[in-house]
Amino acid sequence: MITTLHRPLPRTLVLVGLMGAGKTAVGKRVAARLGLGFTDADHEIETAAGCTIPDIFERYGEPAFRDLERRVIARLMQGPVQVLSTGGGAFMDPQTRALIATHGLSVWLKAELGVLVARTAKRSNRPLLRQGSPREVLAQLMERRHPVYALADLTVESRDGPVEETVDRVLAAIDAHLAAGAAAGETAPGSAPARQTD
Ligand code: S3P
Repeated sequence: MITTLHRPLPRTLVLVGLMGAGKTAVGKRVAARLGLGFTDADHEIETAAGCTIPDIFERYGEPAFRDLERRVIARLMQGPVQVLSTGGGAFMDPQTRALIATHGLSVWLKAELGVLVARTAKRSNRPLLRQGSPREVLAQLMERRHPVYALADLTVESRDGPVEETVDRVLAAIDAHLAAGAAAGETAPGSAPARQTD
């Protein structure tokens, strides 16, 4: 089990992916293993709105939800380095994506359709999945969103099985990514550029 990284996480880790990919379950555990804070963006949106996500969709409509989502994530990206799980639509917003690219390290948790259908069936709090057969809605979202999620810095498979295994894969992927960045002479944001001594 991986509990530390060889290099400290320089930016907020942002988990993206479809509903049921395990962003919250994995994010919480990654944060606990690294001793970092964890925030669920959907939870923050509900707190900001003073009502649940289904209520936001019903009372104000999806565009209002997206607007709030963009503003809440922008605020969270300005805060200290932490682990942030985002709702499935957040990374589809170009402004949010640009902000995450500048201030975060994004990980797409990629899962197969059957896994997403089984996991999302356990709860009824997702308005988009009430708009038709959840399998069909998820299949359509996969087609539309996967090419955009693929723009994330890292892609990690979220399989059916123990969540801790996905957590291990996420941490191993981050470690490899930071090591490759260090080898290429990348510096953390805000730090002085590496000086060459010859
Ligand atoms: C949405 C995903 C949900 C929530 C909202 C819309 C989406 O979050 O933000 O219902 O557009 O995919 P999860 O991905 O955490 O279920």
